[in-house]
Amino acid sequence: MRPIAEGDLPRLARLDEDVFAEHAYPFFVLRQLYDVHGEHLLVLDSEDEGELLGYVLVGTQADRNRSWILGLGIDRRSRGRGFGRQLMAEALRRLRADGVGEVRLTVEPANTAAVELYASLGFTHLDHRENYFGPGTSRLVMVLPLRP
Ligand SMILES: CC(C)(COP(=O)(O)OP(=O)(O)OC[C@H]1O[C@@H](n2cnc3c(N)ncnc32)[C@H](O)[C@@H]1OP(=O)(O)O)[C@@H](O)C(=O)NCCC(=O)NCCS
Repeated sequence: MRPIAEGDLPRLARLDEDVFAEHAYPFFVLRQLYDVHGEHLLVLDSEDEGELLGYVLVGTQADRNRSWILGLGIDRRSRGRGFGRQLMAEALRRLRADGVGEVRLTVEPANTAAVELYASLGFTHLDHRENYFGPGTSRLVMVLPLRP
């Protein structure tokens, strides 16, 4: 696991498209997320260092009161092997070390795997929002306080 490098962007875009299909970030958005939050974008290499196995992207407010998980994805063939948990655990470790107050995320309510993963890391349900990303896209908002 390591922070992303600029040269990984095409591979990141391929993985994001494979994981999220029509909901993947357009390349120019990934590029700009990298420009702004690159140091908080962690990737997992495959053993042969070909394609990426997974990534997590975190955005943090300037005052460090709150971060958001902006993306988490694991290659379809590599799920259920602990990689999602590893990426999230490392992202949370870094946020705690940076003194961030809390971390939030949104998730599709029917996405059991993701909801279970977040709950097992201590995230709790904060809100259920209809039309969060536009008509027909309801999202669960989850939160994890990071400071004692
Ligand atoms: C959600 C996702 C990142 C999980 O990654 P993963 O590497 O497969 O998950 P892990 O193997 O690390 O499992 C961690 C936990 O997730 C939960 N989980 C994973 N797969 C699950 C499944 N099929 N059903 C229920 N819970 C599941 C479990 O709580 C699991 O805990 P365990 O280790 O005690 O079994 C992965 O399924 C994925 O990329 N999904 C598509 C993209 C997505 O939904 N991203 C999140 C958007 S908010």
